[in-house]
This record gives sequence, C-alpha cells and structure tokens, in this order.
Amino acid sequence: MVAVRTDDGRYAGSVSVLADMGEMDGWLAPHARGVGLGTELFRAGAELGHFHLGLPTVRAGFEPANLASAGALAGVSFVPVDASPRHTLDDGREVGARSSQHTAPRRPPCRCAGPGSAASTGESASSPAAAGV
Ligand SMILES: CC(C)(COP(=O)(O)OP(=O)(O)OC[C@H]1O[C@@H](n2cnc3c(N)ncnc32)[C@H](O)[C@@H]1OP(=O)(O)O)[C@@H](O)C(=O)NCCC(=O)NCCS
Repeated sequence: MVAVRTDDGRYAGSVSVLADMGEMDGWLAPHARGVGLGTELFRAGAELGHFHLGLPTVRAGFEPANLASAGALAGVSFVPVDASPRHTLDDGREVGARSSQHTAPRRPPCRCAGPGSAASTGESASSPAAAGV
C-alpha cells in the first residue's frame, strides 16, 4: 500500500503485509518522518492485514536502536513478543532484532470485492492519504 501526503500530494512511503506469514514492513521518505505519519502508516498496515487479508495477528520486526519504528508501532498498540534477538539480512549481515505483534480487534473482515469495487477504488481505504496530514 502506497502512502501519499495530503498536504502536498507527494509520495510519503509504503507499507506491506505478507499474507502467508503476517509480517508487516514499512518505510517513510525522509520528508515524511517525524510528523506522526509512521503511526498512521503502521495503523494502515495492521488494518490491511486484519480486515483485508483476514489475519488474526500482524507481526513487525525492527532493530532495537530504531526508536522511531518502536514508537510508531507502540502508538498503534503493537506489543512486544518473544523472538530471536538476532536477524540475518538478505546480504548476510546479522543485526539485533525485536519483534512485536498486533491482534485483531473484534470486527468482521472486509475483503476486497475486486477491481471496480468501492474498496479497490480507495473509497473506503484507511491510509495516510486519508489521515489529513
Ligand atoms: C519507522 C518510521 C516509519 C516511523 O515513522 P516516523 O514518522 O519517523 O515516526 P512518527 O513521527 O510517527 O513517531 C512515532 C512515535 O515514535 C516517536 N519517535 C519518533 N522518532 C523517535 C526517535 N528518534 N526517538 C524516540 N522516539 C521517536 C515519536 O515521538 C512518536 O511517539 P508518540 O506517538 O508517543 O509521540 C520511519 O522513521 C521510517 O520510515 N524509518 C526508516 C525505515 C524503517 O526504519 N522502517 C521500519 C522497519 S520495521
């Protein structure tokens, strides 16, 4: 899912959720950081996982020194979970790791009906684009 700033229309970043593993990953461009959009981004990712993909839990990993990531995740009620304290990156480097997860609130899933539906055209999308930044 792409995030767009509503104040100037610039692309702000992206968030994705792996449907099979429930793993969320997201980033913001430097110009979009530090104004609360990280929280909005991860909230949108959690909603994507729960209500469009039907996942009961969405997980997110981050490096311990990444306080912005930890803060944005905590702001959307991701809670710490036990996991390996080390993570191997695609290039083979080992880094410290923390893991957190978000549990779906009791609400029925809302799967996309497909191309042309209200959901797929963004009319009901919950994303930073609709956050009013
Ligand atoms: C992670 C990321 C999306 C967070 O977005 P952000 O815009 O920087 O964060 P926000 O402005 O939404 O801040 C979220 C919370 O973290 C806090 N925070 C942000 N930066 C912080 C820092 N450097 N130190 C401590 N707290 C920090 C904020 O105060 C806020 O807390 P609050 O809601 O209690 O006020 C963004 O920094 C980013 O894209 N980083 C690079 C890629 C990355 O690390 N992705 C995550 C991989 S899982």
